[in-house]
Amino acid sequence: MKLPPRVRIVDVGPRDGLQNEKQPVSAEIKIGLVHRLQDAGLTEIEVTSFVSPKWVPQMADNAEVMHGIRRKAGVRYSVLTPNMKGLEAALAAPRAEWPDEIVVFGAASEAFSQKNINCSIAESIERFAPVVAAAREQGIAVRGAMSCTVGCPYEGEIAPERVGMLARLMKDIGVQRVDVADTIGVGTPRKVRAAMEATLAHFEVDRVSGHFHDTYGQALVNTLASLELGVWNFQSSSAGLGGCPYAKGATGNVATEDVVYMLQGMGIETGIDLDRLIDAGVYISEALGREPNSRASKAIRNKRLG
Ligand code: HMG
Ligand code: MG
Repeated sequence: MKLPPRVRIVDVGPRDGLQNEKQPVSAEIKIGLVHRLQDAGLTEIEVTSFVSPKWVPQMADNAEVMHGIRRKAGVRYSVLTPNMKGLEAALAAPRAEWPDEIVVFGAASEAFSQKNINCSIAESIERFAPVVAAAREQGIAVRGAMSCTVGCPYEGEIAPERVGMLARLMKDIGVQRVDVADTIGVGTPRKVRAAMEATLAHFEVDRVSGHFHDTYGQALVNTLASLELGVWNFQSSSAGLGGCPYAKGATGNVATEDVVYMLQGMGIETGIDLDRLIDAGVYISEALGREPNSRASKAIRNKRLG
């Protein structure tokens, strides 16, 4: 089977990875993580989110983090903006500190939409529309994250038709690319394939990415199933950090280290230096006082010890 020759990864660790972290993590540490990720060759980094600090306290230092990062040419920095207030906050900084891309985030499940962003799917699209238009007017790219595309913690299994419906709504309001997210990591290859296909009916393959949480250890096979459809954009977190505050029990994104190890072994180009990536994962894990949640990281570090 012909697979994509290269893959582009968005490391979402600084945002998805840390948003649910209960212990304080300083802006300095977050900035240090972003720097290490870009030095490891990541060309897309999801840095933070401009959401309510009452809902997600860990992201309250969003402006400080955006101010502190040293921009590297060729790297795309993205942030989450759920509404106009979020976009305005992201653009309150000098232009040099603006994100290159904003992310609006909706769900294929009504219940999750309510829990996560306090509105229905239809209302969320109404809220996103002016955000998307305003961002694009300023030359900022727009991505749409679609949560619960295979399963929802409140509604159970989600039919692919609902994913297709959300993708179409995102497309209609001018979202340029979308993430097919398995928020709680329940997906298995056939189900993920169906969610991908429902999305691919509305977005070309270059504009669709896989965002897999690894709760049930299925993220790598789901990545492979997506590659087989020609999808070549993926999101993952260094050291497998994270989880969504509104999806109880869901663990972090698949570890970027594990994805890169698999892709390298398959001869698929990522542009990422695995050793430096592992060091980035160790850096943030040490700051959090735990081991990186990546099998590839552990194996390679064991080997380093001889
Ligand atoms: P709301 O309460 O419906 O909003 O929250 P509101 O407009 O009624 O405002 C209420 C208060 O929030 C007001 O403050 C606003 O000023 C403030 P008050 O008057 O009470 O002091 N507010 C804001 N403050 C800062 N930034 C903003 C903002 N908007 C309102 N942008 C809202 C709606 C969306 C804001 C809220 O529900 C929220 O912040 N939710 C957080 C959602 C979130 O961050 N979830 C995690 C990220 S999504 C995710 O992890 C999934 C993903 O990884 C894909 C996957 O895996 O599925 C992307
Ligand atoms: Mg996520």
